[in-house]
Amino acid sequence: MMPRIATAFSLAVVLMWTACTPEPPQPLPAEYDPTPYELEVGHFPPPVLPMDNPMTEAGVQLGRMLFHEKKLSGDNTQACADCHLQSRNFSDPAVFSVGIAGQEGSRHSMVLSNLAWHVHHGESHGHGFFWDGRAASLRDQVLDPIEDALEMDESLEDVMAKLAEDPEYVDQFRRAFESGAMSEDHIARALEQFLFTMVSNQSRYDQWLLGEVEFTESEERGRVLFFDEFDPFNPEASGADCAHCHSGLDFSSHQFGNNGLDADADMADIGYMGVTGEEGDLGKFKTPSLRNVMVSAPYMHDGRFADIDEVIDHYDHGALSSSTLDPMMQYNVDYGLGLTDQDRADLIAFLHTLTDVAFLENPAFSNPH
Ligand code: HEC
Ligand code: HEC
Repeated sequence: MMPRIATAFSLAVVLMWTACTPEPPQPLPAEYDPTPYELEVGHFPPPVLPMDNPMTEAGVQLGRMLFHEKKLSGDNTQACADCHLQSRNFSDPAVFSVGIAGQEGSRHSMVLSNLAWHVHHGESHGHGFFWDGRAASLRDQVLDPIEDALEMDESLEDVMAKLAEDPEYVDQFRRAFESGAMSEDHIARALEQFLFTMVSNQSRYDQWLLGEVEFTESEERGRVLFFDEFDPFNPEASGADCAHCHSGLDFSSHQFGNNGLDADADMADIGYMGVTGEEGDLGKFKTPSLRNVMVSAPYMHDGRFADIDEVIDHYDHGALSSSTLDPMMQYNVDYGLGLTDQDRADLIAFLHTLTDVAFLENPAFSNPH
C-alpha cells in the first residue's frame, strides 16, 4: 500500500505546484501590423508611389531582411547586397558583378538611391528600371536577379521553401501582409518597399540648396560648369552642360540616352532598343543619377571608366558620333568641351558635394541578420 499512497501524495503535490506556478510566458503569435512607414523625403517633392503596395514598418523590415538574405541565391552565398554595397551608393566596385557560379554578367551593377522617383507612370518613353529600362516597376524588377542564371540562379520555389523553414521569416511575412502568405508577390512587394526607403538628399549640395552652407570657390565654379550651357563658339568660356541630362534633384532626367560611348559598329549592347524595338533607341541607356557619384566607380553600363578622370576625358574630348547620339553630345564630338585643368578640378570638387555620408552610413539599410 505504501508506494501507492506515496505516489498519490506526490501526484497531489505536483498538481498543487503546477496550479500555483504561472505559465511561462509564450511569445505572442506574429500578427499583421499595418503601421504605416512614413517616408521622409526632406526637401524633395513627395514621390508618386504605387497605390497597391502601401509601405508599412513591417513590410520595409521584411524587405531589408530579404535584401541582405543569401538564401535568395542558389548556393546560399549571395544576397542583393553583395552586388549593391551601401558604401558604394549600392553599386559594386567590380566592373561586372560576379554571380554565384563565378560567372560575370555584361553590365555593371547600378546605384540604388531615390528609386521612388524613378517609377514609370505610363510615360511613352523614359522612366523604368535597369540600364535598358526593361522593368516598369521595382516589383517587376526585383525577382529578375534571383532567377537570373548569371546572378543568383535560384528558383522562386526553392527560395520560398528555404524561407518557410525559418521561423523569423514566417513571422515577418505575417506581420507584413494581411494574408501572411509567403509568396513571390510578397517577396517582390517587400523588396520594393525597402528600396523606396533609400532616399539620398542630405549631401553638402542639399545643405547648400537649403542655404545652410556656402560652397568653396572651386565648388561654386564647378557648379556653374555643371549647370551652364555649352557654347560651341566659345568652348573655353562656356559651361559643360552636364545638367542637360543629369538634371533635377536626382541629377537624372530618368530618360534613356546615348552619350557617345561607341560608334554604331562597336555597340556591343543595344540597350534601350532591345526593349522598345526601335532603331532610334540603339545604344541608349538609363541616365544614371549622379548622387554619390564619387563613391560609385567604375562608371557606365559596362563599367568601362575606372574613375571620374576617365569620365571627364570622355565628355571633354572622347565622345564618338553615332546614329542615335544625343544631339547635345554632337557638340562634344565636334568641338570638345575645352576644359582646363582648373575646370576639371572644379567640376570634381562640385561632384564631391553630392556625396551623402548620412545615406551611405544610414544604419536602417544595413544587414539586419
Ligand atoms: C550578381 C550581381 C547582382 C545581384 C546579386 C543583384 N543585382 Fe541588382 N543589378 C545588378 C546589375 C548588373 C544591374 C544592371 C542590370 C541590367 O541593366 O541589365 C542591376 C540592377 C538593379 C536595379 C535597377 C536600378 C535602376 O536604377 O534601374 C535594381 C532596383 C536592383 N538591381 C535591385 C536588386 C535586388 C533587389 C537584388 C536582390 C533580389 C539584386 N539587385 C541582386 C547586379 C546584381
Ligand atoms: C546627352 C546627355 C548627357 C550629358 C550632356 C551628360 N551625360 Fe553623363 N550620362 C549620360 C548617360 C545616358 C549615361 C549612361 C551611359 C551608359 O552607361 O551607356 C551617363 C553616365 C554618366 C556617368 C556614369 C554614372 C554611373 O553610375 O555609371 C557619369 C559619372 C556622368 N555621366 C557624368 C557626366 C558629367 C560630369 C557630364 C558633364 C560633363 C555629363 N555626364 C553629361 C548622359 C549625359
